[in-house]
Amino acid sequence: MDTAKEQIDALRDALNEHNHNYYVLNAPTVSDQEFDMMLKRLEALEREHPEYDDPYSPTHRVGSDLTKGFEQIPHQRRMLSLGNTYSVAEVDDFVSRCRESLPGEDVEIVGEMKFDGTSISLHYEDGRLVRAVTRGDGEKGDVVTDNVITIRSIPLQLKGSDYPKQFEIRGEIVLPWKAFDRLNAEREYNEEPLFANPRNAASGTLKMQNSAEVARRGLDAYFYYLLGENLPFDNHYDNMLAARRWGFKVSDAMTRLESIADVDRYINHWDIARKELPVATDGLVFKVNSLRQQLNLGFTAKSPRWAIAYKFQAERALTKLHFVSFEVGRTGVITPVANLEPVLLSGTIVKRASLHNEDIIRQLDIHQGDMLYVEKGGEIIPKITGVDTAARESGAEPVRFVTHCPACGHKLVRVEGEAAWMCPNKIGCAPQITGRIEHFVGRRMMNIDGIGEEIAVQLFNAGLIRDIADLYELRTDQLEKLEHMGPRTAERIVDGIRESKSVPFDRVVFALSIPYVGETVSKKLARACHDIDTLMGMTVEQLTAIEDIGPRIAESIVAYFAEPENREIVRRLRDAGLQMAMPEVDESLRSDRLAGKSVVISGTFTHHSRDEYKALIELNGGKNVSSISKKTDFVLAGENMGPAKLEKAAKLNVPIINEDEFLNMIQ
Ligand code: IVH
Repeated sequence: MDTAKEQIDALRDALNEHNHNYYVLNAPTVSDQEFDMMLKRLEALEREHPEYDDPYSPTHRVGSDLTKGFEQIPHQRRMLSLGNTYSVAEVDDFVSRCRESLPGEDVEIVGEMKFDGTSISLHYEDGRLVRAVTRGDGEKGDVVTDNVITIRSIPLQLKGSDYPKQFEIRGEIVLPWKAFDRLNAEREYNEEPLFANPRNAASGTLKMQNSAEVARRGLDAYFYYLLGENLPFDNHYDNMLAARRWGFKVSDAMTRLESIADVDRYINHWDIARKELPVATDGLVFKVNSLRQQLNLGFTAKSPRWAIAYKFQAERALTKLHFVSFEVGRTGVITPVANLEPVLLSGTIVKRASLHNEDIIRQLDIHQGDMLYVEKGGEIIPKITGVDTAARESGAEPVRFVTHCPACGHKLVRVEGEAAWMCPNKIGCAPQITGRIEHFVGRRMMNIDGIGEEIAVQLFNAGLIRDIADLYELRTDQLEKLEHMGPRTAERIVDGIRESKSVPFDRVVFALSIPYVGETVSKKLARACHDIDTLMGMTVEQLTAIEDIGPRIAESIVAYFAEPENREIVRRLRDAGLQMAMPEVDESLRSDRLAGKSVVISGTFTHHSRDEYKALIELNGGKNVSSISKKTDFVLAGENMGPAKLEKAAKLNVPIINEDEFLNMIQ
């Protein structure tokens, strides 16, 4: 048997390799489950042997909840910017200028993407990452090593052995489009301000104090500049290929260009092809390849003479404003929306664009019927960037923000210190009520199937529900009377409502629609307060003492529970049997009877809820997985297990265990 240290080392090496395969090469060789199992095993070994702890272990890539300010340090070599141009002719001039400055020499140019993120400088010693520093003001930057360690595509330990003992590598930290979309969808849902583009999201994320949240957001990094005393090659291109072998992500778009015609072709190609890339780019960078030639060309005060950035044009269109509509969200915030003559922009038709708030309408000075500039550059959300005032019809009136709620007619109030107008009629304004119901039944909240926007509106219009607590009094015979509602759907909804009573407390908090209280905040509140009575009794001071709860959130929570109507809803939800406290974990039940076992749960149960079974599996050291594979140890099956799952389990010889057998197993 290997010693623990040997096992730990072997697991760390293997996991580093898998991380590289997955995050850099995009070619994983093991399943996510296998990876997770190895990581769990390593975590267990490290727990047993704290003497072998290592901050660079792959287990630390999930981040920590510790918060601390960033230390600032001076850069060893200044971080400069690049000269910019939007014109192909100027890029050509740049190449000619370089040639003229190096008479009689061949000048090879390297073309590469200009990634639109936030720049980072990494320092390696003996093949290990020792420090990550942001650009800062170019002279000094913030040390963000803890956050950078969570970026899975960044090697903590290099591969091979031909790297210099000490070197610096620079690159761009980016948030890939997919992760950006997901993050913004979440933020939109939680009514948090959206990130305008992946660049802001990447730099904001990198500066977060909570590295676990950084890890969750899915940053990535591309590298484009190697610096140091003993670089392996005398040219940029080969050095970057070496860096790629050491484990860094270096874009495949990097290429050597021999003539001005090559450069122009490269620009024409990527002007279009960049739209298919998984990350945002805002242009191309052209660099003189030879390091000796770079040295000869030197620097101006701000940028190197051996490189230039060609920037892509943001796509912009001019279109007519038909009217501005004012929409009421579930928390009462009024959002102005420009309804436009449909126009094609970056491959999609744009006909609506949020104007966000009154201040933006004022700043842009939008008038009725104006011709508006719409842009979709690095941002996927179309943005109104200006007005063609020359095209304005004489006598056109400025667009005025509504003074009364477009849905219920109540006078609007402006939230102190904020740009938003709100309809304060929480309990009588239809879109707010139906919005809250829709939110309450959502998959990440109470997970009640069968109620979408349309049915929420129908239920409200039919007078069947006026608040979320009314849901728990709904009967199938009432539902069946609604249009397009069959008995089966009615039953499914009522079943879903009943099952929602076992949804854990943190999701109940999220489901209430307390302004500014999103999914993450709800979890923090539930963990810190443990039960609803404690939460309802908290003061602003007590709430802000909880990690990540700022004064705005705290005040919103206190205001919410100060409303008698809201307290009454909580009382009724509690009477209906919803979870109003975190479950007590009976530590005496903890065991390792299911250690290393992967379990799939399927069907409906009688003794415990699905969530309770999930918790029981974890309490006994097992792992919950969602789909059956040959790695699954058994399926915990209740009533009505789906036929496809049954078939798959039979085919793969995965045992099926019922509730009683399972409870005996962990007894
Ligand atoms: S080279 C001394 N290459 O653009 C030259 N920069 O405007 C160092 N950037 O601060 C920069 N992609 O954050 C270089 N392929 C690339 C780049 C790139 C993005 C960023 C970088 C830099 C800024 C310069």
